[in-house]
Amino acid sequence: MDELNEKVHQFLGDGPLFDHCLAVAKTAKMLAEKYGENPSKAYIAGLLHDVGGYYPNDKRVAIANEAGIPLLEEEEAYPLLIHQKISKFLARWKFGIFNDEILSAIECHTTLKANFTRLDLIVFLADKISPDHPTEPQYKAALLKALERSPEAAALFYINEMLKRGVPVTHPWLLEAKKELEEKIN
Ligand SMILES: [Fe+2]
Ligand SMILES: [Fe+2]
Repeated sequence: MDELNEKVHQFLGDGPLFDHCLAVAKTAKMLAEKYGENPSKAYIAGLLHDVGGYYPNDKRVAIANEAGIPLLEEEEAYPLLIHQKISKFLARWKFGIFNDEILSAIECHTTLKANFTRLDLIVFLADKISPDHPTEPQYKAALLKALERSPEAAALFYINEMLKRGVPVTHPWLLEAKKELEEKIN
């Protein structure tokens, strides 16, 4: 694990993005231990989830095209949403992670998706509750309270909150995940 930490550190350099990746890795590991998932897969997915954030928004469409990553029209309209797919690409081709469960969790860490796994859910949540996340204390407290009920309840709370606050472009995966979460919870 130290070797992968070092590689990611070398790629991202010092700064908030690397600190965030490390914080999410640790949080994902902790959640995996709590909810019976594989802690080391969770750690690796957390560590790599935002490596695609290295490339600025205005380069993301070009990079995705170059890498042969299929894009949805929502992603072309709002390239922030592309970073999860670029992270997955880099995880495989730059960092040598070929495990499908890990790659899946990286790929949907911002939006979740239909047929999400428990590992997907854990990495999605770790990204939102990690200690470095700039969330308002009140909102974070409500999110953690929902997590006391279940990871599914926390994810649904987060998605509803995001939709309520208004996102520039709604990714279809987010809506698919919301529908599934509602079916699971109710
Ligand atoms: Fe991200
Ligand atoms: Fe993140």
